[in-house]
Amino acid sequence: KRVLGIEGTAWNFSAAVFADDLVCLHSAPYVPPSGGIHPREAAQHHASVASDVIRKALNEAGGRIDAVAFSIGPGLGPSLRIAATAARTLSLKLGVPLIGVNHCVAHVEIGRWYTKFADPIVLYASGANTQVLGFLNGKYRIFGETLDIGLGNALDKFARSHDLPHPGGPIIEDLAKTGSYIPLPYTVKGMDLAFSGLMSAAKEATMRGASMEDVCFSFQETAFAMCVEVTERALAHTGKDEVILVGGVGANARLQEMLGIMCAERGAKFMAPPRTYMGDNGAMIAYTGKIMLEAGSTIPVSDSVVDPGFRSDQVDVTWRQDAGS
Ligand code: ATP
Ligand code: FE2
Repeated sequence: KRVLGIEGTAWNFSAAVFADDLVCLHSAPYVPPSGGIHPREAAQHHASVASDVIRKALNEAGGRIDAVAFSIGPGLGPSLRIAATAARTLSLKLGVPLIGVNHCVAHVEIGRWYTKFADPIVLYASGANTQVLGFLNGKYRIFGETLDIGLGNALDKFARSHDLPHPGGPIIEDLAKTGSYIPLPYTVKGMDLAFSGLMSAAKEATMRGASMEDVCFSFQETAFAMCVEVTERALAHTGKDEVILVGGVGANARLQEMLGIMCAERGAKFMAPPRTYMGDNGAMIAYTGKIMLEAGSTIPVSDSVVDPGFRSDQVDVTWRQDAGS
């Protein structure tokens, strides 16, 4: 089966075709002229590039498409509606089924596809989301998650407060390379995390005269240690022995290193997919759409309303069985 996947939840409008492997991937990222991502402007960007990006993907793939998958949520409402409209139109025009893919689950599934791990604990760290998940009894269960903002948004907001361009994550990673540690608030409550206090404290530290390098380093060390702690506890509680890292923040080499060290110390396997599959991309939607199609999880156009608050643990994972069953 060959599935076209359309992603457009936030900053990237991207289309891909997935068969036994990735056939092609085309993206048109939205880069805000200043400040963060404005939902309406991102949607206008998506609308202006949609037909071009999708046409490129279909042309490169050639031949028949068996289904059209799209991100149905979570994400920014106006952006979600552009991708959904494009997907519905194509599904009707080509006469093929429509598949509504949960964006968070797609981040997880492309990681599972790439790593081939059988039953991993997943650290999903991105702009709006930070969750530690594992598959159990037909659903991705969230063992712990951020109680306020996503780690990526915390990094981006801190960067923006210092007039650095969006997205701030990669710039902070770079500045952190020459920094040294200063204490910042570390917030883990049970299995949950919080980042907004850390972000405010980082802003205050620079206002008091700490260098950007030191604050970026300490921001990363603190936030990543919080994520690693919850991931480690999820491993301990579930008895699983594999960890994968997914989502845009997963591109960070220091986060990968810290998770790798924790896993090595516990005798667990660790792997992260390459950058192409970390940040938002059409490939993850096309791949998840493909495995959903094979499990019969298609939807009629009348049920394809987008859901900006769609959670990963609301999805009935019809395409997977528990390990060992
Ligand atoms: P979500 O999946 O929550 O909807 P998203 O759709 O906004 O998130 P992603 O592409 O998954 O987007 O993640 C984007 C985030 O990743 C941004 O906040 C960005 O700063 C962050 N990011 C990208 N590269 C790095 C890096 N090298 N280090 C840290 N953060 C990074
Ligand atoms: Fe994402």
